[in-house]
Amino acid sequence: VCKVVVLISGSGSNLQALLDASAEAGASFSVCTVISNKPEAFGLIRAAEAGVPTSVVNHRNFSSRESFDQALIAEIDQQQPDLVVLAGFMRILTPEFVRHYRGRLLNIHPSLLPKYQGLHTHQRALEAGDNKHGVTVHFVTEELDGGPAIVQAIVPIKEGDTPESLAKRVQVQEHVIYPMAVTWFAQKRLKMLEDRTQLDGELLPSCGAQ
Ligand code: GAR
Repeated sequence: VCKVVVLISGSGSNLQALLDASAEAGASFSVCTVISNKPEAFGLIRAAEAGVPTSVVNHRNFSSRESFDQALIAEIDQQQPDLVVLAGFMRILTPEFVRHYRGRLLNIHPSLLPKYQGLHTHQRALEAGDNKHGVTVHFVTEELDGGPAIVQAIVPIKEGDTPESLAKRVQVQEHVIYPMAVTWFAQKRLKMLEDRTQLDGELLPSCGAQ
């Protein structure tokens, strides 16, 4: 069974979806620990309720991004995980961190990448007058929100949507596609090749982010 470390900063609804999937009969991955950079993250409670160990590496206790990331690497590597999953982890990671986990570091980003890298994606999609929006699971590379895409889900933007109503519609899909992508990885069906993703031996179309 594939050992997964999940990094969070907040509510942890994606973490919950992963915990639920890992508890199903025949699951191909297990969450061995959950690490938060924020002590008050609700996701820590979700993990505890699922019987999964947690720890906090509080970025406020570090004077630089580099020293924070080194502490994070030390904490993660104690577990010797096969995969590191960012689930609403809201810190930008250093190139050293990203290189250390190259090919085994996943992120979920609430937009149809390469559109709307960075923050406030729902608001930006609404302001642009888009009629669709969505979410992307991708391998993490040194380019922020720019690594090879694995899977996207598309949702419609409806009349009268607010950033909140749109976020809710997107999150329903997040909770479907993230466990799916992690399962593919755990089943060794997924590989990061240079700047493209390979699934079941076939190169996936690039989403334009690469
Ligand atoms: C999710 O919507 C995720 O896509 C987003 O944060 C939310 C976390 O929710 N991630 C990013 O914006 C990454 N830049 P959760 O804590 O309930 O899973």
